[in-house]
Amino acid sequence: MNIAVFSCSLNPKSKSRRLAERALARLGGSGADALFIDLAKYSLPPCDGGSAYGDPAAIELKETVKNASAALLAFPVYNYAAGSALKNMMELTGDAWTGKTVGMVCAAGGKGSYMAPMTVANSLMLDFRCVIVPRFVYAIGEDFEGDGAPSEEIGQRVDELADELLRIGTALSG
Ligand SMILES: Cc1cc2nc3c(=O)[nH]c(=O)nc-3n(C[C@H](O)[C@H](O)[C@H](O)COP(=O)(O)O)c2cc1C
Repeated sequence: MNIAVFSCSLNPKSKSRRLAERALARLGGSGADALFIDLAKYSLPPCDGGSAYGDPAAIELKETVKNASAALLAFPVYNYAAGSALKNMMELTGDAWTGKTVGMVCAAGGKGSYMAPMTVANSLMLDFRCVIVPRFVYAIGEDFEGDGAPSEEIGQRVDELADELLRIGTALSG
């Protein structure tokens, strides 16, 4: 089972990256072939619906998405929605997402933006027939320890999500 774990925060002290790392460890420990993609390490152009598709980093990411059976998206909540780095990546990689199983984890400043993952889910379901794992992890500041590690409770929820992603993704990939 080939799973791409995307860390979509550009902040060097990102909390959602810590969630992505936890999921990566769980998936790897469960025998999945899990690949970590940190968008902070890419300099992707803003999607312009044209020449940006020819950018080498955009082409590389599109191949990565195509080759994965499933993906875990970890992202920051900005302005009550997923941060634009994730949306830009989705715009650049487009139909490579077709039919993937997708799980989501996110980090937010407060509790009020808990619907933020739904815009990502809607787009992936309606545009690309993705199957969205029907649970996500929404973590806020108090869910992280002083060193930035996720609390035990949030860590366990990330593990449960990773297990579900693997279970559903494996079933659907036949
Ligand atoms: C531009 C910006 C917008 C934000 N908007 C929200 C928001 O609408 N709701 C919220 O709960 N937190 C918001 N936050 C707080 C972030 O979600 C929080 O810092 C989170 O840890 C970001 O994820 P990251 O640490 O992985 O980068 C915002 C932060 C920034 C920088």
